[in-house]
Amino acid sequence: MKEISIIIKPEKIEQIKEIADKHHCGGMTISTVMGCGTQLGYADGGSVVKGMHTSINLLPKIRVDVVVKNAAVNEIILDICDKIPTGNVGDGKIFVRDIEDAIRIRTGERGEGVL
Ligand SMILES: Nc1ncnc2c1ncn2[C@@H]1O[C@H](COP(=O)(O)OP(=O)(O)OP(=O)(O)O)[C@@H](O)[C@H]1O
Ligand SMILES: [Mg+2]
Repeated sequence: MKEISIIIKPEKIEQIKEIADKHHCGGMTISTVMGCGTQLGYADGGSVVKGMHTSINLLPKIRVDVVVKNAAVNEIILDICDKIPTGNVGDGKIFVRDIEDAIRIRTGERGEGVL
């Protein structure tokens, strides 16, 4: 199992829900977060702030966490990279982690079957 963490612009929330639904993700966790990437928050959504800056500028983003079977990871990533980009900086990043186990608390079942 892998956890895919997708950090994207908040206005993409409906599109990411559609992608998760299309790939039959068995659940998801969405959080509102603040963050910055390589531009340190000073160029996002196509506008570029000229001049010097002295501190990092954190911008609102959503983080979508889905845990899926290994075989599903690549297709989901390809779909995100097809549907989510605006062409501007700040479109987001995807991080993939190994998941050791999953447990459904109600029944005590473990492993891929709980997804
Ligand atoms: N190295 C990182 N570690 C943790 N979170 C990150 C990292 N890079 C980006 N993020 C998160 O992803 C969000 C979106 O990043 P962003 O799309 O600006 O990445 P980027 O590398 O600057 O790419 P681009 O040049 O397209 O803007 C950030 O606001 C931050 O929350
Ligand atoms: Mg950036």
